[in-house]
Amino acid sequence: MKYALITGASAGIGAEIAKQLAARGYNIILTARRKDRLKEFCQELQTEFNVKVDYFAADLAEPDAPQALYDFCKSKNYDVEVLINNAGYGLPAPFHKTPMEQEEKFIRVLGISVIALTKLFIPDMLKANNGYIMIVSSVASFAPPSTIQVLYGPIKTFMNRFSDAMNISYKYRGISSTSVCPGFVITEFHSASGTQKEMDKVPAFMKLDVESVAEEGLDAMFKRKRMSIPSKRYKIIVFLIKYAPKLVSLLSNRLTGGRYRKRKTSDEN
Ligand SMILES: NC(=O)c1ccc[n+]([C@@H]2O[C@H](COP(=O)([O-])OP(=O)(O)OC[C@H]3O[C@@H](n4cnc5c(N)ncnc54)[C@H](OP(=O)(O)O)[C@@H]3O)[C@@H](O)[C@H]2O)c1
Repeated sequence: MKYALITGASAGIGAEIAKQLAARGYNIILTARRKDRLKEFCQELQTEFNVKVDYFAADLAEPDAPQALYDFCKSKNYDVEVLINNAGYGLPAPFHKTPMEQEEKFIRVLGISVIALTKLFIPDMLKANNGYIMIVSSVASFAPPSTIQVLYGPIKTFMNRFSDAMNISYKYRGISSTSVCPGFVITEFHSASGTQKEMDKVPAFMKLDVESVAEEGLDAMFKRKRMSIPSKRYKIIVFLIKYAPKLVSLLSNRLTGGRYRKRKTSDEN
């Protein structure tokens, strides 16, 4: 059986995708920064699903990380059929307060490392005439610009376009790319990104669980669909964003815990 490589596999959506791929019989390569978690999770998956599982700790903000990850897979003869680009986080501070270096790291983790990993693994997929790529994007890629995490939406939009470009370039050779665009999901994302307060204000019906997001995303990926927007709720919301943007902007603050709130002058220093 071939391998699936999952970035951001130490928590949240990535960990659940790893679990569901192992349940589907895939051998698994986990990666993220927290080595202890990866080690523990690796043993857990091996015991529960009886597949081969390995891990490689890497910080995708480091420019050399994608190559190091690829070299690791090559050195172990892991034949990667499924590449899940999932690692991500948000920058909590207003745009004028974040150093450029922090923005660059952010763009590297959510954008450049995705492109680099895809570039590294695609030649082997082309040789095999088969490959599945998933990019975990977000409903934020369609939503109006937000006053918190200014670059988050734009980079996810960029990733959707990149995913589409991969499809037009390689689908006819057996390699497809699926961007998975969830709305709010209950994970460590909001505590890690300093937006737990806003997440707590989001109404319960707007919050998704990792199990259903991973399942819908994987089903779409294996059907080689270009995009998945998990849950009917969010399919409707994305439809409204596209075709009734005025209605969405009236409702958006209530539904997103203040992401569209005009900040008071006192916040702006
Ligand atoms: N939660 C939501 O509401 C939501 C909604 C839409 C889209 N998404 C997207 O879903 C993806 C997964 O997020 P999540 O909600 O599952 O968040 P999460 O629970 O915080 O998990 C994020 C994962 O990314 C890894 N990661 C973060 N920075 C990294 C770095 N520099 N290098 C390598 N790995 C890194 C983390 O591991 P380590 O800390 O161990 O490195 C962790 O495994 C992200 O791309 C996010 O943008 C989330």
